[in-house]
Amino acid sequence: MSVAMMVRKAALFFSPVVFVILFGAVTTPGAAAEEEVCVNCHQAVTPLLVKDWRASQHSGNGITCSTCHGSEHQSAKTAHLAKLPDEGTCGECHQEQHEQFVKGKHNFGWTSMNALPVTHMEPDELMEGGKGCGGCHNMGVKSEAQKKELQNQGYRYRTNSCDECHTRHTFAKKEAQDPKACQQCHTGFDHPQWEMYETSKHGERYALKEKGRLPADAAAPTCQSCHLPGGTHTNKVAWGFLAVRLPLPDDPQWAADRTTILKALGVLDPAGNPTARLDVVKSVDLVRLTEEDWKHEREKMVKTCKQCHSEQYARQELEKGDVMIKKADRLMAEAITTVADLYQDGILKKPDHYAYAYPDFLHFYETGGSHIEQVLFTMYMKHRMRTYQGVFHASPDYAYWYGWAAMVKDLDQVKEMAAFLRLKAKTGEKK
Ligand code: HEC
Ligand code: HEC
Ligand code: HEC
Ligand code: HEC
Ligand code: HEC
Ligand code: HEC
Ligand code: HEC
Ligand code: HEC
Repeated sequence: MSVAMMVRKAALFFSPVVFVILFGAVTTPGAAAEEEVCVNCHQAVTPLLVKDWRASQHSGNGITCSTCHGSEHQSAKTAHLAKLPDEGTCGECHQEQHEQFVKGKHNFGWTSMNALPVTHMEPDELMEGGKGCGGCHNMGVKSEAQKKELQNQGYRYRTNSCDECHTRHTFAKKEAQDPKACQQCHTGFDHPQWEMYETSKHGERYALKEKGRLPADAAAPTCQSCHLPGGTHTNKVAWGFLAVRLPLPDDPQWAADRTTILKALGVLDPAGNPTARLDVVKSVDLVRLTEEDWKHEREKMVKTCKQCHSEQYARQELEKGDVMIKKADRLMAEAITTVADLYQDGILKKPDHYAYAYPDFLHFYETGGSHIEQVLFTMYMKHRMRTYQGVFHASPDYAYWYGWAAMVKDLDQVKEMAAFLRLKAKTGEKK
């Protein structure tokens, strides 16, 4: 009898805990024996994790702990030798999904977070540690340099992003098909897609269908049916997060307003010349750079809507979103210019970490610290986002009360505060 066979037999004979005590440190050749070693010990160490694995398609197909984690760690003392599988490990068997994922926007999550200047001013725990920005931006295949950077800072985990939708160790398809799988990240301050969806007719129908109040085959779109249609892992939309794109629109007022916003994003300098940040923005596909790129995504979306709505209806609904971006940009540009003039006139001091005496949205709330700068940032990042995202997601409440109405209020505040700051500067001079 081989050593492997002996161990396997022993595993069946002894209770897992006794087995581990006797054989835990034995290195066993052969995949089946290896599996039993891992599973038997982990049955005691992490019992519910093993239960999840048993419930997965993997366990039934001979995909064991060591398939993903290697076999170097075999005892409690050697846990640090267990490999943590990256997307490439999953890709060895799921090539199609891996290739699609790499072509999509999710693949830029980690890189785009690190490309922002604000990231490097925040606590590491929230970034590399995954407790803040890094908790949602753990998306995309990390380069060797990025992995090394994590390790150097003492962070061992966050090597995989497939498990952001198919959580370990069940790795289920059904889970990823549910809109809830998107909720952790697509929520809150600047991208409340979950809340908007939930409060739209689309989300309501999905919920009612789940409850059995609508027929099981009633049409109800999910995040996935609109954004990962046909089961693809490639995601990308027409406008994207910042809702600025190139080329500039024909409408001269809108073109001027978008230029003002591009200056506040720091991709144009205050004189209107491109900066180094434009290259960063291009490198993570943060904005669509050509009309064709934008149109391609728009047409794909119309095709999705057309499964349930008339084409004309769908186009008109989406165009309302485009027009609301234009209207929101009018308010936004006025507010930016009001604050930019305060820097210009020396009433607001240029923060040391800003490149120019001009608002800088990509430093987020790390401004010069004045209330007017904070209101301006919130107007852009929270309320402008909600205005058009709410329209696109058919959520009247978000588009109006949390979006447009809040922007109008922000602009009033910005103007009033600017007048006050100017008055204060004047009376200060007289003294
Ligand atoms: C003798 C018991 C034992 C055996 C056998 C064993 N493990 Fe472990 N494993 C542990 C313990 C204990 C830990 C540490 C748990 C903790 O930190 O609380 C651990 C941790 C791990 C971790 C997490 C590592 C980390 O950095 O957090 C992985 C992955 C793992 N084991 C996989 C395996 C695989 C794969 C095998 C089989 C090749 C295996 N284990 C065999 C006891 C065992
Ligand atoms: C299909 C691949 C796959 C299989 C099979 C698999 N794991 Fe994992 N495991 C992962 C991934 C992915 C992670 C997360 C890695 C990261 O965060 O960097 C992970 C993380 C872990 C961790 C550390 C994180 C935590 O939640 O505690 C432990 C412990 C672990 N696995 C144990 C096991 C054990 C035991 C088995 C077998 C019963 C197993 N794994 C089977 C993919 C797998
Ligand atoms: C050694 C090959 C292998 C590796 C590595 C592997 N898988 Fe799988 N996976 C399978 C097999 C086999 C199935 C069963 C279904 C099938 O035949 O496609 C499966 C099924 C799945 C399913 C569908 C489950 C369902 O509910 O229908 C998902 C999701 C999945 N794997 C995700 C992952 C992820 C994520 C990783 C990496 C952490 C991974 N797999 C690593 C072989 C593998
Ligand atoms: C943004 C969420 C998301 C991420 C991240 C994700 N998936 Fe999926 N995955 C899905 C959805 C949704 C489905 C169901 C597709 C369908 O309805 O056919 C799915 C299905 C699968 C399936 C089952 C395919 C089939 O038809 O049986 C596999 C295998 C899979 N994914 C692997 C992966 C791998 C590997 C990764 C990482 C490279 C990954 N997924 C990352 C959302 C995701
Ligand atoms: C772990 C967090 C996380 C989860 C879960 C997640 N996403 Fe994302 N998603 C992100 C991040 C981060 C980005 C921005 C990526 C970048 O930097 O380009 C993003 C971007 C997107 C975009 C925007 C693409 C664009 O062109 O601008 C869409 C659409 C999207 N996700 C859909 C989904 C859907 C649908 C699901 C659920 C099936 C989902 N996401 C699950 C984090 C997540
Ligand atoms: C009925 C289809 C539909 C559903 C359902 C849907 N979306 Fe969208 N989504 C859109 C459209 C249309 C856009 C705007 C596309 C454009 O830029 O022209 C969009 C845009 C986005 C964006 C980019 C920023 C924005 O909001 O404009 C993200 C991210 C996103 N959706 C995620 C989600 C998530 C997550 C869910 C589920 C909670 C979801 N979507 C549900 C149609 C849908
Ligand atoms: C709650 C999860 C979450 C947190 C926390 C978070 N993000 Fe995001 N981030 C997302 C999602 C989801 C998107 C895509 C939203 C969309 O397209 O509407 C996104 C989009 C982005 C984008 C634009 C990517 C693109 O190309 O479309 C950047 C850059 C970014 N985030 C950086 C950050 C930074 C820096 C932080 C922390 C200071 C942060 N995020 C915190 C989830 C998060
Ligand atoms: C899977 C089917 C399905 C898809 C795909 C779909 N919708 Fe819908 N949509 C519906 C249903 C059903 C309703 C509820 C109609 C009602 O209120 O009677 C609805 C409602 C709406 C509403 C609210 C209108 C109202 O009367 O209150 C808008 C706006 C809308 N859809 C736009 C879109 C757009 C734009 C797309 C594509 C991005 C889209 N839908 C994709 C099924 C779908």
